[in-house]
Amino acid sequence: MSEVLRQLRQQRSTAEARPRLMERYAAFLPVTGATPNVSLGEGYTPLVHARNLGRIIGCPLLHLKVEGANPTGSFKDRGMVVAVAKALEKGSRAIVCASTGNTAASAAAYGAATGLEVVVVLPQGQIAAGKLLQAQVAGARVVGVDGNFDRALKAVLELVENADSADRPISLVNSLNPHRLAGQKTAAFEVCEDLGGAPDYLAIPVGNAGNITAYWQGFTEYRDAGLVDTRPRMLGFQAAGAAPLVIGHPIDDPQTVATAIRIGNPASAEKALRAKDESGGTIEAVTDEEILAAYSDLARHEGIFCEPASAASVAGVRKMATAGRIDPGATIVCVLTGHGLKDPDTAGKTVEPPLTAKPTADGVRGALGW
Ligand code: F0G
Repeated sequence: MSEVLRQLRQQRSTAEARPRLMERYAAFLPVTGATPNVSLGEGYTPLVHARNLGRIIGCPLLHLKVEGANPTGSFKDRGMVVAVAKALEKGSRAIVCASTGNTAASAAAYGAATGLEVVVVLPQGQIAAGKLLQAQVAGARVVGVDGNFDRALKAVLELVENADSADRPISLVNSLNPHRLAGQKTAAFEVCEDLGGAPDYLAIPVGNAGNITAYWQGFTEYRDAGLVDTRPRMLGFQAAGAAPLVIGHPIDDPQTVATAIRIGNPASAEKALRAKDESGGTIEAVTDEEILAAYSDLARHEGIFCEPASAASVAGVRKMATAGRIDPGATIVCVLTGHGLKDPDTAGKTVEPPLTAKPTADGVRGALGW
């Protein structure tokens, strides 16, 4: 038997053998002996060296943090696992969130796995098909509201504030819940471990501005713990139609293909701006055209299918590199926040219909023009 096979046999063959995010990073998380051990296998997502795309855009050390590989297909699972564990610990029976879809899908899954009632409030008609279905199949109660994400969040905040806590203890699981950000910062730890240090730049899509805040917190805590020496410059990218941090004021009904980050008034705006300033980074806007070009190129050159909002990170880095604003020798990590399968409708608009042929080799050859 080969050495590899022998080692595989010796490993514990139970699901317990896989390290859990909350156990691995317990020292950095609000975890106590009383915190229930929840896991759907979140975290430990791939960091891919994007050699082809890196060469094309002039950044040979371009890396992609593939957060679509989380259990519900987005980075939200890192924070949701902690938020749900803490909700259970304090005796909540229900969790509630406003969402552009990914938070809803994640809350629905972790709520289902732990027996919590889940209520998600969504801007009606603006949610990618996959995300809505994820929430529904997991049994969440979905409420569509006539209005944007900001209005949905306001409604949910009022709902939680006025809830009868004795009757139905209820926890908010939006990123205003600090446990969400605590969990999400673990992605920065993984990036440091995979690279053997912090990158020079960390590029990330910005919506409600929780994730950029969480990453900065993560890099800072790892540096303060002496585990890395440096912190990256933080590059945040908003969709041009919905870029309040860039243009300085909220937009009432922003339009963009990146519907996941279609947010007028980011809840963590101040913290995100601090991360930008402290790191010597920038927060800028990218257009829908730039986002869709990056989205297609990621799939065609790297085989990584992310959702449109995720591609804002690569679109932004490409734009900066083209303008000569990034040192070509820099190590760059672009966070790809969600999976492309969540939004089949946008994908469908970027491709030609499939070829058709008779079910014979000749038929297929003819259709291919071989
Ligand atoms: N990328 C994706 C795919 C998202 O779904 C979100 C946010 C972001 C980036 C932005 O992250 O809000 O922390 O700055 N989605 C939220 C939701 C709003 O409800 O799923 P952020």
